Amino acid sequence: MKIHRIATIPGDGIGKEVVPAGRRVLEALAATDPALRFEFEDFDWGGDYYRRHGRMMPEDGLDRLRGKDAILFGSAGDPDIPDHVTLWGLRLRICQGFDQYANVRPTRILPGIDSPLKRCAPGDLDWVIVRENSEGEYSGAGGRVHQGFPNEAATDVTIMTRSGVERIIRYAFELARTRPRKQLTVVSKSNAQRHAMVMWDEIAVSVSRDFPDVKWDKELVDAATARMVNRPATLDTIVATNLHADILSDLAAALAGSLGIAPTGNIDPQRRFPSMFEPIHGSAFDIMGKGLANPVGTFWSAVMLLEHVGEPAAASRLMAAIEKVTADPSLHTRDLGGSATTEQVTSAVCNALGAGSHR
Ligand code: IPM
Ligand code: MG
Repeated sequence: MKIHRIATIPGDGIGKEVVPAGRRVLEALAATDPALRFEFEDFDWGGDYYRRHGRMMPEDGLDRLRGKDAILFGSAGDPDIPDHVTLWGLRLRICQGFDQYANVRPTRILPGIDSPLKRCAPGDLDWVIVRENSEGEYSGAGGRVHQGFPNEAATDVTIMTRSGVERIIRYAFELARTRPRKQLTVVSKSNAQRHAMVMWDEIAVSVSRDFPDVKWDKELVDAATARMVNRPATLDTIVATNLHADILSDLAAALAGSLGIAPTGNIDPQRRFPSMFEPIHGSAFDIMGKGLANPVGTFWSAVMLLEHVGEPAAASRLMAAIEKVTADPSLHTRDLGGSATTEQVTSAVCNALGAGSHR
């Protein structure tokens, strides 16, 4: 039996509430299944660590994570530290240092959750957004000159490499192929952006030749937002650049009921390094410490983690427990219009696991 070595990094804000909750449900799973074992190690990196040490994580942080099978992450962001410091110092450092180039964001309307799309049947919205996670608009290339003078100039340069684009589009085709509808929408903005986006589209055409069984189409990112709202059932798997998919995935999460539910995997498909799983929401300092955070995004991220480490049965059990809990409106947190606490939702999922049909 393999022991899964999991690093937990709560980070900042409500990350410190939802990650321990995520660990609790994983432990509850293991408690009811003798064949499932985890070894957790917690890392206190983030804003408080920065105040003590002047950096978000230690210099050898990546080395300390390298031997893990997966990482469960909370969120990075602190009202007293500039966002680009918290982001680049921790989360992006891990994503880029471990070349987690595929950011995978499934969205569905879970049982009991009210979607703002009034004409949408629950099954109409069942998407996976694949976000390029290593370059593009987030490459970090650029700079500022003449700072403070009227002629100050600043650039953020989008960098797309043929190998980087090809690998993400190939990953998306492969993922689309595993889903029942075998359908992929490739998003870009190649009508207005004349270089990188045009190459992105060309590469999609050439990669598609290896996937004759996957139905695919192209959509411009602005039109994609309208299609998500007006014709959600026409979409299934979606691949987009780092920034476009960042925006589309918030829209997707909101259309599915709440940002508090949505999960993410930052995945190294080649498994050279640990992959990292996290809720898509941020650190939400306004509600921190009040027990109001919705832990479902973290639980669903834990489902993705289990799938990634080769525990599909445990992943299905956890997903079923989550759906049992979301189906009960008395267990909805404030973001869903309810008044349940993080603790109540977590206990309910643990109970659902204990009472499940397992064994
Ligand atoms: C996300 C977030 C991050 C991103 C923020 C926190 C920088 O919005 O994971 O979608 O843009 O990558
Ligand atoms: Mg985002």
